[in-house]
Amino acid sequence: MTAPVRLRPEIAALPPYRQGKQAAPDAFKLSSNENPFEPLPAVIEALHGALHVNRYPDAAASELRSVLAERFGVTVDEVHVGAGSVSILSQLLLAVAQAGDEVVYAWRSFEAYPGLVTVTGATSVQVPNLADGSHDLVAMAQSVTERTRAVIVCTPNNPTGEIVDAEAFEIFMAAVPETVLVILDEAYVEFVTAENAVDGASLTERYPNLVVLRTFSKAYGLAGLRVGYAVGPAYVLDAARSTAIPLSVTEPGLRAALVSLEHEDELLERVGRITLLRDQVRQALIDQGWAVPRAQGNFVWLPTGEHTARAAEVFQRQGVVVRAFTPEGIRITIGESASVDKLLGAAQEVVRSL
Ligand SMILES: Cc1ncc(COP(=O)(O)O)c(C=O)c1O
Repeated sequence: MTAPVRLRPEIAALPPYRQGKQAAPDAFKLSSNENPFEPLPAVIEALHGALHVNRYPDAAASELRSVLAERFGVTVDEVHVGAGSVSILSQLLLAVAQAGDEVVYAWRSFEAYPGLVTVTGATSVQVPNLADGSHDLVAMAQSVTERTRAVIVCTPNNPTGEIVDAEAFEIFMAAVPETVLVILDEAYVEFVTAENAVDGASLTERYPNLVVLRTFSKAYGLAGLRVGYAVGPAYVLDAARSTAIPLSVTEPGLRAALVSLEHEDELLERVGRITLLRDQVRQALIDQGWAVPRAQGNFVWLPTGEHTARAAEVFQRQGVVVRAFTPEGIRITIGESASVDKLLGAAQEVVRSL
C-alpha cells in the first residue's frame, strides 16, 4: 500500500512503546514492574460505586488533588493529576521543549523517555550511568547547555534500581539554572529503604524549577487504572494542565486512588513484604555470583551484557518472563513469592550456561 500522508520523519522512525511481554498462563510475568497483589476489597467496592460511565469525570480531579495537597503541605494548584505519571511527564515536556531544544536524562533509564522527548521535537541528550547503575549527576549537570529545557532524574532508576543521593541531588540542583525544568521521577519511591535517598516531595517548595512525579501504579497496585500525580510549582503545573488531553483521568481511577490513600497502611504493609523479598532475592543472586546493583525499586537488575538475549531465553523457558535490554541487562520484577524459586533457578542456569 502507498503511504501518501506526510508524517513527521522523526515520528515515522519512532518505534511505538514496547510493553513488557505477556506471560503464558503458567508463567510469571515479571517484566513490567507491576504489583503482584490483587486490589484491596475496598478498591473493588469503590470501583463498583464509580460506574456512572455515561458521565465525564471531574476534569480537575479536585478531591484527589486536595487530599494530596494536604498530605504534602502544598496548595491544590501545586498538585496535578494525570492518567499515569507518564502522561504528566509528556505534558511537562510538551510545555517546555520543542524542535531545537534538548532534554537531558540518564541512560539507561525508563524506556519511555526517548520517545516522549522525540514527540516534542526536541533532542535527547543521554548521559551514561555510572558503573554501579546510578545517575552521573555531575555529568548530567555538565550536559546542560543554552538549549536544555528539561532534565529528567529517575530515582530509583528504572531499570538499574539505584537511588539518587539526597546531598548529591542538592548539589545538582545548585548547578542547574533555574530556567531549566528538573523532573524528578519517583515512580518507585515507596519501595526505597536507603536512608540517604532523595525525597522529592520535601524539596519542591525550595526550588522554583523542580517537579516531582509519583504514581498509584506501583506501590498502590493501580497500574491498570492509570493515575499518577505531580507536586511542584503551580506555574509549571498550570503549563502541564494546558498541554494535557482533557478528561483523560477516569472517575474509577480517581475513586480507587482516594480509597487507596485511605487504606495506605495496608498497601504499605504489602510494599514492606515486596521490599523484604527484593532484598532476599538480590542477596541470593549475589550469592550465585551476580553483580546486582543496590535494588531500591520493586525490581532487580542483572548485568548480562552481550549474553542478554540468551539469558532472557533461559528465563522464558523456565516460566519467568523478564524484561531484556539488549545488550545491557535484564530487569526482573519482584512479584509473587511463588515466583522466586523459578527466578533463582533460571538465574543459576544462566550462570552455569554462559
Ligand atoms: C521510572 C518510571 N516512571 C514512570 C512510570 C510510569 O508509571 P505510570 O503507570 O504512573 O504512568 C514507570 C512505569 O514503569 C517507570 O518505571
